Amino acid sequence: MEQKRRLEGRTALITGAARGIGLSFAQAYAREGARVAIADIDIARARAAVAALGAAGIAVEMDVTDQDSIDRGVAAAIEGLGQIDILVNNAALFSAAPLVEISRADYDRLFSVNVAGTLFTMQAVARHMIARGQGGKIINMASQAGRRGEPLVAVYCATKAAVISLTQSAGLNLIEYGINVNAIAPGVVDGEHWDGVDAFFARYENKAPGQKKKEVGASVPYGRMGTAEDLTGMAIFLATEEADYIVSQCFNVDGGQWMS
Ligand SMILES: NC(=O)c1ccc[n+]([C@@H]2O[C@H](COP(=O)([O-])OP(=O)(O)OC[C@H]3O[C@@H](n4cnc5c(N)ncnc54)[C@H](O)[C@@H]3O)[C@@H](O)[C@H]2O)c1
Repeated sequence: MEQKRRLEGRTALITGAARGIGLSFAQAYAREGARVAIADIDIARARAAVAALGAAGIAVEMDVTDQDSIDRGVAAAIEGLGQIDILVNNAALFSAAPLVEISRADYDRLFSVNVAGTLFTMQAVARHMIARGQGGKIINMASQAGRRGEPLVAVYCATKAAVISLTQSAGLNLIEYGINVNAIAPGVVDGEHWDGVDAFFARYENKAPGQKKKEVGASVPYGRMGTAEDLTGMAIFLATEEADYIVSQCFNVDGGQWMS
């Protein structure tokens, strides 16, 4: 007997979904029967992703640092999908530097995408969900980096701690409308993002390219780095009614790296 698809008839807006984890979520949601707006600042790549996804997807140009772009992107997703049942705030930037080298420009860039982007996209979609009166699911991408500081990663860690905090407050505020806000904290997930992280550490810790990846993979209790696919089970679950009673939580999906 064929299993029922878990997101049949649902619609989702996923930011930063042109590649990496966001793209994997878009593909997983589509497999479960949802239609998905792939929102990204890189619209060419978002369109290519949609071409591969077929009728289940639409591409939306969105820069989460720009309020007009958020408003236009959310409006385009509502027009293209009919409504937004699920929002995944996934777009983010990473940087690393010793404390004495951190620049204000880099701080502003990361907080603008990772924190303000998450907050104001949540706000725009929450307004739509409240007006519709049918609840919704919001999933924010945090990180194990938000659970504790790291010597060379002060700004990124602080942005992800802020995402965990925003998830708690927004979840408490929006549950009266039937909107669940929760977060996922991945550990180390291989892909283009981690190619960049590896390059930072090659520079600051004098490592050969690829060395940092090998080290972090070996340090994961599960025995390897994560893949974007490893996260899709949690992303699907949090978007279903099975997660209705889960409010303001942040779930580690990290092969056993963090335990709180
Ligand atoms: N990869 C990891 O190891 C890891 C670990 C913990 C948490 N995370 C988090 O998971 C999420 C996805 O990570 P990933 O590895 O897929 O990252 P990624 O860098 O591969 O993808 C990020 C996407 O966001 C888009 N983006 C960047 N700035 C944007 C903006 N201003 N507006 C809209 N889109 C923008 C990029 O174009 C890109 O498509 C991020 O929130 C990241 O912090 C990743």
